[in-house]
Amino acid sequence: MPANPITKAIIPAAGLGTRLLPATKAQPKEMLPVGRKPAIQYVVDELQDAQLRDILIITGRRKRSIEDHFDADPPLVAALKRAGNEALLQDLAFLEGRSRFFFTRQSEPQGLGHAVSLGADFVENQNCVVALGDSLIGGENPDAPLRAMMNAHLSLGAAAIIAVEIVPPDETFRYGIIDVGAMEPTPGEPMVVNDIVEKPPAGTEPSHLAVAARYVFSPIIFEALSRIVPDRQGELQLTDAIRWLVRMEQPVYAWLLNPAHKRYDVGNFESYYRAFIDFALADERYGYMVRKYIKALAYEL
Ligand code: G1P
Repeated sequence: MPANPITKAIIPAAGLGTRLLPATKAQPKEMLPVGRKPAIQYVVDELQDAQLRDILIITGRRKRSIEDHFDADPPLVAALKRAGNEALLQDLAFLEGRSRFFFTRQSEPQGLGHAVSLGADFVENQNCVVALGDSLIGGENPDAPLRAMMNAHLSLGAAAIIAVEIVPPDETFRYGIIDVGAMEPTPGEPMVVNDIVEKPPAGTEPSHLAVAARYVFSPIIFEALSRIVPDRQGELQLTDAIRWLVRMEQPVYAWLLNPAHKRYDVGNFESYYRAFIDFALADERYGYMVRKYIKALAYEL
């Protein structure tokens, strides 16, 4: 057991979901189903499997169903027990005390950095994980990257470790982009971050290494968040706080995800459909039916 195990995680889930209207008119994008579970439950499962015991979800207006979803439901469990429905009881196992849930609200869209800053009291001067509520990790053992990042964070004494993925050149403007100088990116090997920039205009990106929705931070991130100023849209960017850490010569590392652990973003329809299809195909209960259907359909396409 490491000397200072990481037990706390923040899931920012306050984004408006405008790109998914009308599906998100009255429900959070994080609650859209991806196969048999709402998107955010994959994130919670990943954090629980990584032994994160305390999970703070940053919600917002029209996000109350997230709280309901993670609330224990003794009458429902009792009814399923009476009916002897083991399969459904198993599906609700995520409610059984593997972690404690906390919620706070971001009342106005003031940016990802502001959302994370709302977790300062919850984190109480410890290391913490930040996992974006609209980004899922696919593949076997989706918690493996986070576990490895947490171990590396402790052994390196890092201020921050940031998961990254390689994106096509014409997509870098959608992400936080990391500069690791001449270092050859290798999955699972920490790379010292020289700089980081949020959504650089096309052609100005320092690399194709995009921030991939999973972070491990030392408590100094909250000082960084209190030092930065809002961007032109009036939003406080987490990327700018990480940049502040780099400028302060704090040890900040990037962690390239293994291609076996693909990241899915449910923030727009194209990637949401992709996520749904891949997770439905990987479903151990219904995947074979989906595969059969898609194979038959492919003949007609
Ligand atoms: C956020 C971060 C960005 C990151 C992305 C995916 O952007 O600000 O740095 O690359 O998530 O993890 P958003 O998708 O909220 O615009």
